[in-house]
Amino acid sequence: MTTVGLHLLSSTRKLLALSDECRIKEIQNDKVWVDYPLAAKISDIVNNFCELPRRSQAPCMIVCGEGGTGKTSIINQLKRESRFKEKLIYVALNVNPYGYKFNELIADALGVPCKSTRGVGRKSDSLMVELEEVIRLRNIRGIVIDELHDAMLVPRLEQGKHLSLLKGLSNAPFGLSVVGFGTNSAGNALAADKQLSRRFIKFQLTDWSETEGFRSFLAGLEEMLPLKYSSGLDREEIVGLLLSSTLGRMDDVVKLIRSTACYAIRTGEEKITPELLNKTITSPWGY
Ligand SMILES: Nc1ncnc2c1ncn2[C@@H]1O[C@H](COP(=O)(O)OP(=O)(O)OP(=O)(O)O)[C@@H](O)[C@H]1O
Ligand SMILES: [Mg+2]
Repeated sequence: MTTVGLHLLSSTRKLLALSDECRIKEIQNDKVWVDYPLAAKISDIVNNFCELPRRSQAPCMIVCGEGGTGKTSIINQLKRESRFKEKLIYVALNVNPYGYKFNELIADALGVPCKSTRGVGRKSDSLMVELEEVIRLRNIRGIVIDELHDAMLVPRLEQGKHLSLLKGLSNAPFGLSVVGFGTNSAGNALAADKQLSRRFIKFQLTDWSETEGFRSFLAGLEEMLPLKYSSGLDREEIVGLLLSSTLGRMDDVVKLIRSTACYAIRTGEEKITPELLNKTITSPWGY
């Protein structure tokens, strides 16, 4: 009896019919998403924020985590999944090719022109009036900000302006729930402003450790890798190897598993083994 692909989600099982090269492309595709409890909780909270009646002070959330802990992936998943997609706007503070100020970036995300027809910056007051109008008309309820630390790692005066913009956005008349993602320095800057930080519920993304949560994440990831045979990624030996070589950082864990899956295809082994993992650790792109 053949057990080819029985361990896979049915949508992944279909990919087994593709050529090796196409399966490798699928594995390296950054759209793979495995749900895990903290990400699901964050998404539920965002959805709940969107359902609240507009208030004079909207509840806000900050999600802190060091580089590669999975912040942007949660935002991308929110964009794909949120039941309130049209009620949220998204801003990534590291994507700023025109050198916009913080309020201009927000305007830009809403499609509000932040330069006058003559190409000069608009007065902040008139920009804010138009922002308020667009937010009300489109019934926008929240703003999701990636790389929030970029707005905090600036001279004190500018940082103060950015904090007061966040405060303004969460107050009437805007009443937006600010959902910020950033490194711990964003959390620390926010914590320094007691009045503002009271509005923020805080979550911390941490590295994986040897827990049931990690094992179930690995089992979920395995179901999405188009390999013919089951690897048992949640086995003690593999979990130990993954943790010792990546220290549990999300980005490194996923990269290592992906590259090893590519080795598994190229070698014809069609499953991830401790030997293949070790080979990948020595030469991640050598498959
Ligand atoms: N839930 C998930 N399921 C599958 N892969 C994931 C998940 N979360 C993160 N990853 C993987 O980890 C990589 C790094 O995650 P991400 O870019 O979200 O981290 P980050 O915290 O935003 O990092 P940085 O601070 O450098 O911007 C992603 O490219 C993706 O491959
Ligand atoms: Mg990111």
